[in-house]
Amino acid sequence: MTKRNSRFPGFYKVAVQERRELVAEATGISVEEMNAALETGGLDPATADKFVENVLGTYSLPFGVALNVRVNGKDYVVPMVIEEPSVIAAASNAAKMVRAGGGFAAEVDPPIMTCQVQLFDVADMQAGTANIAGEKATLLALANRAVPGLVERAGGAIDLEVRPLEPDMLVVHFYVDCRDAMGANLVNNIAEAVGDRVAELGGGKRGLRILSNLCDRRCVRVRARIPGEALATETLDGSAVIAGIVNASKFAEADPYRAATHNKGIMNGIDAVCIATGNDWRAVEAGAHAFAARSGRYKPLATWRGVKPDDGGSAIEGLLELPLALGSVGGTLRVHPTARLALRLLGTSSASEVAAVAASVGLASNLAAVRALATDGIQRGHMALHARSVAIAAGATPAEVEQIALMIVEARDITVEGATRALRLSREGEVKVAIE
Ligand code: MEV
Repeated sequence: MTKRNSRFPGFYKVAVQERRELVAEATGISVEEMNAALETGGLDPATADKFVENVLGTYSLPFGVALNVRVNGKDYVVPMVIEEPSVIAAASNAAKMVRAGGGFAAEVDPPIMTCQVQLFDVADMQAGTANIAGEKATLLALANRAVPGLVERAGGAIDLEVRPLEPDMLVVHFYVDCRDAMGANLVNNIAEAVGDRVAELGGGKRGLRILSNLCDRRCVRVRARIPGEALATETLDGSAVIAGIVNASKFAEADPYRAATHNKGIMNGIDAVCIATGNDWRAVEAGAHAFAARSGRYKPLATWRGVKPDDGGSAIEGLLELPLALGSVGGTLRVHPTARLALRLLGTSSASEVAAVAASVGLASNLAAVRALATDGIQRGHMALHARSVAIAAGATPAEVEQIALMIVEARDITVEGATRALRLSREGEVKVAIE
């Protein structure tokens, strides 16, 4: 059995094929399988035509891996699909810092989704509520008859609750254990199966029947403690960086304008893992932002505070909490070979493990962003990476990209025009920039 490893020093410097070989060795997945799923993105137009409507073709995005990620003592090579430069590098870098403090500690709630059945024009709210609550056992049985496969897998509707919303409107929540599925289809099946009976018992008209994406019974909490030395930059010591990160956290805690951007940095990591693993990132986004605003004020999903370790040095602790409805079976995974490969790279078939890892990468992305913002700013690193895509847009070949990117960064002209000029000069042999 392969011992999983997520430390690959110099990974970014080697060619794509060599990276696949390194990951193959560390995960036990064959290079051939990786080539097949990654060379063209895994989806041909004929298969895509079965996914959605009016298909013309497919659309590829970069598939990379975050390294150095250790969650609950286990190493993960984390698949990420994202078009934004620097997110994967930054998450890997931050995960290395977190590793210096022992890695991420994640806690995942049971996979409970909320199913909503709305009733309106309810004649007697008290009587309607009592009738529904009194029939709880038969309603749960009715719900479970709609999802026999889930019940077989030890999941199903486990509880219900009646919530008054308006003087004549109520909503009934069915809480459904979805096991390793994200659960949207299961929950919607239940909603449609129980709707009429709920309306009858509640004495109202049946309204909407649908899951809630604010799945706050399915949260993940991730903690990371990083020693000051691991956070130091070329010019700032660990304590100064910690003070800067805590200040960034307090800014987000005090201001929804900043909290939105802070949370966007977290979702950079989480969405990329969701997309790679075939999960519904719009559902995750909707849940995350509703959760961030649950107090009535939009707040950061992750916060940071300085702590005093026993050895007398300095350290920082971060905590991220959000609802995360991820699946490791069904949906896209059934039909998308690259999503299936992503799951195999993670080395798990457990949806809660995928959620723990995705949230950890979210916290890593946040740490990387606030550390950069509190020290050098993000533009220097960001523009260096952005320069690569500009070089590609100007027509640089893979062998030319690094040199052209370096030339336009040094010339402080990171534009397609600048890259076209650099390419011409380079091809005419007028400029040779040393690339280490
Ligand atoms: C950019 O994609 C994300 C950041 O703006 C996040 C943040 O400001 O914390 C860098």
